[in-house]
Amino acid sequence: MKGIVLAGGAGTRLRPLTTITSKQLLPVYDKPMVYYPLQTLLDGGIKEILFIVAPERAADFMRLLGSGKDFGAEFSYKIQDRPEGLAQAFIIGSNFIGTDDVTMILGDNIFVGNDSFLHDSIKTFSKGARVFAKKVPDPERFGVVEFDDKMQAVSIEEKPKAPKSDYAVTGLYIYDNSVVERAANLKPSARGELEITDLNNLYLKENSLDVSIYEGEWLDTGTFDSLLDAGIMIRDLKNKK
Ligand code: G1P
Repeated sequence: MKGIVLAGGAGTRLRPLTTITSKQLLPVYDKPMVYYPLQTLLDGGIKEILFIVAPERAADFMRLLGSGKDFGAEFSYKIQDRPEGLAQAFIIGSNFIGTDDVTMILGDNIFVGNDSFLHDSIKTFSKGARVFAKKVPDPERFGVVEFDDKMQAVSIEEKPKAPKSDYAVTGLYIYDNSVVERAANLKPSARGELEITDLNNLYLKENSLDVSIYEGEWLDTGTFDSLLDAGIMIRDLKNKK
C-alpha cells in the first residue's frame, strides 16, 4: 500500500494566512496541519508516501518533512501545477503508485478518535475502494452519500444543493490499483475538475465501493472557523491526556 497526501491548492479562502505559505502548513495547535493526516497514513502502516504540492510551496514542504527518515518512512514530492481536481492526484502519482494499492488523504483533513478503526481499515483493505462517511450539519459543502433503507450506499453527489443525507464523504480514500486507469479516463466536471466523486461512483456502480461510517471527529480545516476549532479540539484532547 502506497500513500498520497494531497496538499496542493492556493488556499485562497484563508488569505492573508496563506499569502506566503500553504494552508496545509498552518499551525493546528502545536503542529503544522499536514502532520495530522500524515500521521493517519503512518499509523495505517504506510511507509512510502507522496506529497502532492503547489509549485510555489514545494520547497517549504521539503524543508519541513525532508526525506521521511525522521518519521520512519520514505517521502517523495510531486508538483500539481494547477488544482484541477482531487482525482488528478492519481495521474500525477501514477509512477509512484506503480502496481500497488493506494490510500489518499487530503492535507487539510484531520481525523481524531476512533483511530484504530481507520488504521485497521487501511491495513485490511484488499480490493475495490473504501471511503468513510461522517454525519455533518452542512452536507452541501461536501460529497454526499445517499443510502437505501439497509444503509447501503446508492449514490454520491458532489456538493448537492439538496443533499439526500447528512453523510459527507471524508477526505480519506483507499483504492485498488485500478484507480490509476480509472482516473486517466475521467472527464472534467462542469467546474473543470477531475472529481473524486466521479471516481467513487465508478466503483459504486460495480458494487465495489465500501462506504464505512466514521464515528470519530473529522475536521476539514478549510475555513477560519474550522481551523480555529481544530486547534482548540487538539489542545483540549492533549490537556485531557
Ligand atoms: C473535497 C471533495 C468532497 C469531499 C471533501 C472532503 O471537497 O470534492 O467530495 O467531501 O473534499 O474534505 P473540497 O475540499 O475540494 O471542496
